[in-house]
Amino acid sequence: MSEPTVQMLPAWPQSDGAARAAAAFRARFGAEPDGVWSAPGRVNVIGEHTDYNGGLCLPIALPHRTYVALATRPAAADGAAGHDPELVRLASAQESGAWEGRLADVGPGTVPGWAAYAVGVAWALRQDGHAVGGFDAVVDSCVPYGAGLSSSAALECAVAVALDEVHGLGLADDDAGRARLAAACIRAENEIAGAPTGGMDQAASLRCTAGHALLLDNRDGSTRHIPFDLSAHGLALLVVDTRAPHQLADGQYAARRAQCHAAADALGVPTLREVEDLDAALARLGTALPAGAEVDVIRRRVRHVVSDTRRVELVERLLDADEVEQVGPVLTEAHASLRDDYEVSVRELDLAVESAVGAGALGGRMVGGGFGGSAVALVRADDVEPVAQAVAGAFASAGLTAPAFLVATAEGPAGRSA
Ligand code: GLA
Repeated sequence: MSEPTVQMLPAWPQSDGAARAAAAFRARFGAEPDGVWSAPGRVNVIGEHTDYNGGLCLPIALPHRTYVALATRPAAADGAAGHDPELVRLASAQESGAWEGRLADVGPGTVPGWAAYAVGVAWALRQDGHAVGGFDAVVDSCVPYGAGLSSSAALECAVAVALDEVHGLGLADDDAGRARLAAACIRAENEIAGAPTGGMDQAASLRCTAGHALLLDNRDGSTRHIPFDLSAHGLALLVVDTRAPHQLADGQYAARRAQCHAAADALGVPTLREVEDLDAALARLGTALPAGAEVDVIRRRVRHVVSDTRRVELVERLLDADEVEQVGPVLTEAHASLRDDYEVSVRELDLAVESAVGAGALGGRMVGGGFGGSAVALVRADDVEPVAQAVAGAFASAGLTAPAFLVATAEGPAGRSA
């Protein structure tokens, strides 16, 4: 059998992305945008399903970004008839169907589809007391869609920095303000788009810095930027987009969150982050959970959550000690935990990890929420191509849709692109 082609997913240079979004804006609205802003997708090195449990995670911002060309609407005072300063008009190069509506009418359940992630941010900023008005915006993106690489957060965060600047809010100017923008993006996703996600993705997109992984402590939102230059160590982080459909809103994610909260309640702690003695906690769950609870299932969920934060701490120590190759086996261990204890993997993700490791990767794991999406493999830089070939070959042999690949490097956060 001939070798399958390896499809790489390129990132656009920022100037190209900005030019594309600005051109699409002109074509759509026949006017110049006020500017173009962009925000990155993310890949998480380690610490999965820990964010909504107050734990640690370690994402990097990808070179793949979502671009938003945006213009505010004229103020009501100079508005001729028909000029509504509350009007929001949104269009996307990726999604069919534009959206148009009044900002004052936005609320939970009122905006369908992708537009909820964009206009939801304006709604959330208003809820926080910021004077945000109507706007026109066109979105273009090279963040792989539905691949578990945070295309939703990239859209939210690009809109957030755009609105921040055009309304002079000044929040994007420092990390504390960026944390507040991230909180608004999370509200948009949870309350307007109705996806009950944690906060890792928005923090990654707004608070990462180039050349660093973001150690995010979800207990208090504090961060540490850890140098993350794999190429200096002759290594690379290969991302495999398995193309298995990835859906967070299907109830499984919410079910995991509910199980974790039930466990924390039974243990009498605010979040599972407070569990210090894992064995004692697992034993206590035998009697502490309400009658009818699936004790063994919940024990496994707790074991994943608590052990994954410990793996983040281990990876932090390995990176600090420049023992980067040693991170590989920790990733593979995390995959087993996500597969067996948290039960959020699928066949495609398992195959991506197994075939990458079988072809010489130092380790790998599924990333993001799971149930489809992407996996990562830590590989020697010279092995990127052969490992990708091996994964593509394994997918072809299994009769699965061909996966796509990218090499993840740690890039900069959301900001103005033009
Ligand atoms: C999704 C969510 C995040 C996080 C991950 C799992 O990406 O958006 O908040 O919970 O899943 O780590």
